[in-house]
Amino acid sequence: MNNPLLIETEPVSYIIGNDAIEKSATKFKEFNRIIVITDENVEKHCLPVFKQKLPSLIIDGVITIISGEENKSIHQLIYIWNELTRLNVGRDDLIVNLGGGVVTDIAGMAAATFKRGVQFINFPTTLLGMVDAAIGGKTGIDFARFKNQVGLFINPTCVIIDPIFLKTLEKLHWQSGFAEVIKYGLIMDRELWQKLEGKNYNDVDDWDTLIIKAAKDKIDIVRFDALEKGIRKNLNFGHTIGHALESYYLKSGHPVTHGMAIAAGMICESWLSSKIFGMECIHMDCIVKMIDSNFERFNFTKDEIPRIMQLMEQDKKVRNNKQNFSLLRKIGKAVHEVEVETDIIIKSLEFYIDRKKCD
Ligand code: GLY
Repeated sequence: MNNPLLIETEPVSYIIGNDAIEKSATKFKEFNRIIVITDENVEKHCLPVFKQKLPSLIIDGVITIISGEENKSIHQLIYIWNELTRLNVGRDDLIVNLGGGVVTDIAGMAAATFKRGVQFINFPTTLLGMVDAAIGGKTGIDFARFKNQVGLFINPTCVIIDPIFLKTLEKLHWQSGFAEVIKYGLIMDRELWQKLEGKNYNDVDDWDTLIIKAAKDKIDIVRFDALEKGIRKNLNFGHTIGHALESYYLKSGHPVTHGMAIAAGMICESWLSSKIFGMECIHMDCIVKMIDSNFERFNFTKDEIPRIMQLMEQDKKVRNNKQNFSLLRKIGKAVHEVEVETDIIIKSLEFYIDRKKCD
């Protein structure tokens, strides 16, 4: 078995691969007490693994939140702050965020704001967390039913990515994380795309390699652009329309996974890429085929498009009343800060509904 990969950046250390948890033991030494924040599912399936891998670590408190994106709320943030107060957590303590994107987002925000900042380590337990959410210091909550409406950029001291946690991951969450892995292939990593092309997430047999590759892609971006002023915006490919769809389904009481929404967003935004940057049809058709073979299409109708567009207006990327997209010139090469007019965005959603081929 290979040793896990160590990547030191300023200010975050990463340990990625099998046995990463064991290798993280030294990271706890300088702290007074250790508090774990997790959710009810992770507490059941992953906390025992965490404890077993770090037998000499004394855990002084466990704060458990309710799982699910619909619970990434101000109420749960207040619950965490109350628990941190009850446990009298101080700045010399360490918070361990053990969970998927919801946990690392909300618990990161709680840690960063409690007593003006308690240090924290992210231990992602989902594929999406391992390749995206736990890396790069985005923390926050959904508010007024908009995704990630309130939050801050604040980095954990370490991110420990150990695929052992994926043993208990549900199928839907494999699929959700797979959308982000596909995205890295499309925006920056043609070699990764070539490994993925034609594959269904159920058939992948070398997840460890894919996770390391995708996590490294993300680290390479955020180490140069922590605050999303430039190249980090490329990560938003598929997300402008994807987030609007995710909010739309959340609002309608039928939440969908982040990956499902982003997969749909990538179809629409690939169409925009072909219209605006002339991305070749052969590339676009490959992308659509790959996404369709991994994700079912949503069945929203043309009548629902105005409501989806309304949600898009809340996007943090809106500038001068125009939507700001990250699009593709070709597979493996993204461009950011592309202003797109509303009527063309609507056409991309119609393209998605009509299931046409590139023309
Ligand atoms: N998930 C996109 C980013 O971290 O910037």
